[in-house]
Amino acid sequence: MGSALLRGWLAGAPAAITVVEPGPSDGLNRLAGDGAITLLPDIEAVHAAGLTACVIAVKPQVLKTEAARLRPVAVAGALMLSIAAGTSLATLSRALGRNAQIVRAMPNLPGAIGRGISGLYAKRSLPPARRALAESLLAPLGQTVWVAREALIDSVTAVSGSGPAYVFLLVEALARAGIAQGLPAGLAERLARATVSGAGALLDADDRPAGALRRDVTSPGGTTEAALAVLMRDDALGALLERAVTAARERAEALGG
Ligand SMILES: NC(=O)c1ccc[n+]([C@@H]2O[C@H](COP(=O)([O-])OP(=O)(O)OC[C@H]3O[C@@H](n4cnc5c(N)ncnc54)[C@H](OP(=O)(O)O)[C@@H]3O)[C@@H](O)[C@H]2O)c1
Repeated sequence: MGSALLRGWLAGAPAAITVVEPGPSDGLNRLAGDGAITLLPDIEAVHAAGLTACVIAVKPQVLKTEAARLRPVAVAGALMLSIAAGTSLATLSRALGRNAQIVRAMPNLPGAIGRGISGLYAKRSLPPARRALAESLLAPLGQTVWVAREALIDSVTAVSGSGPAYVFLLVEALARAGIAQGLPAGLAERLARATVSGAGALLDADDRPAGALRRDVTSPGGTTEAALAVLMRDDALGALLERAVTAARERAEALGG
């Protein structure tokens, strides 16, 4: 996620970027060698006073031990933007200081190719200009949406954070169903994969509601209608997804802190 952000920032308007990374990749070393970024091995080497924003893109377990070391950056007034899953604003505030300006974001996997969506939350007191800064910093990962209560970040996690895996499962299941209908495995997988990515591209290109797109391709008495009758009988798929998303949200709540 951190490298996807960096790629986007480097492609955008010029800004001074410092990357803190104890084990830099060859790519990062090259960027530092070319003068595109300043590369530091440790947060303590950062000149806190000069920073407008600090994006925290380490694993939650690393953040647990490292967050307090970011305090001087927060105290110097930088916007602190965390994309760490399950790390609450209260936990971040305890480590960064009561007056720290913090935005918590939940991105998702397609963010790695700029096609994701991030849910954002900040206290009401965070000024609009800082919110706009958080949005522009996350723009390389795709779309951004604000939620009104921090608890809703767990719901975002359950829908869009974990959601790509549900879609991958759909591809697997559709391919298996194709094999059961006599298609060779490789062909069934190719058909299922292209169908889901193609339908996704259509959703992207056409902003009508998904239900309208579905109705458009469902001729009365046709094959699609026959399949949908099975998927929608007693809201079969809807109820299953609701249980799955509830389980994910409850897990996000339990892991949070
Ligand atoms: N991937 C997703 O779909 C997704 C979705 C939602 C939220 N997130 C959140 O995004 C964050 C990053 O996830 P990721 O998937 O990008 O993880 P990742 O690929 O493991 O990236 C973490 C980076 O932090 C570096 N790092 C480790 N210790 C550090 C330290 N002490 N100081 C500075 N940098 C350090 C790691 O370097 P090394 O590789 O050398 O250890 C690595 O480059 C996580 O908090 C995760 O919860 C990810």
